Amino acid sequence: MKRIVIFASGSGSNAENIIGFFQTKTTATVTHVLTNNERAKVLKRCERLKISGLSFDKNDFVKTDKVLDFLKKEADYIVLAGFLWRVPSKIVAAFPNKIINIHPALLPKYGGKGMYGMHVHKAIKENKEEETGITIHYVNENYDEGAVIFQAKTKIITEDSADDIAKKVHKLEYKYFPEIIEKVILEANE
Ligand code: GAR
Repeated sequence: MKRIVIFASGSGSNAENIIGFFQTKTTATVTHVLTNNERAKVLKRCERLKISGLSFDKNDFVKTDKVLDFLKKEADYIVLAGFLWRVPSKIVAAFPNKIINIHPALLPKYGGKGMYGMHVHKAIKENKEEETGITIHYVNENYDEGAVIFQAKTKIITEDSADDIAKKVHKLEYKYFPEIIEKVILEANE
């Protein structure tokens, strides 16, 4: 049974969905949720779901090895589910092909610093894109640049608001993210 540690910065609806998915599986289990925001709604979800939810700051993450040491002890896989900080290279190096992120667009379009959450959906609406989607990818030192594992698309109609686009994208995230994480773990076969 592999141990997944989820990183989330905000609401955590994907985190909750992944936690639920793995509760019925023998492949892996979510052991902790870590957040850089001590007021994030994801911590309330953790309380309700009786999952360990812990917060950390930049010092713990970047300057000292507090988060790195915690992960070395506690994690086989790291899943970024709405996590907004760049992962420091020491953590990337310690977990090669073991850190998985989801991005709410079809990378390489609409990626990079500042492109997260509703910013992405608003940009897609402004540019009158006819489709969007999700990208699940390995994490490297640069925002949204690691190797792509999986993409899924959804159509946009002219009447769709940025909120409607967000809903369509979330639907894809809930459907595919847990099963793709499981597939990565099964295919690694360790
Ligand atoms: C998700 O749509 C995720 O793809 C996005 O943040 C949202 C978090 O929602 N991530 C990024 O934009 C990363 N660049 P949630 O907190 O309800 O899971």
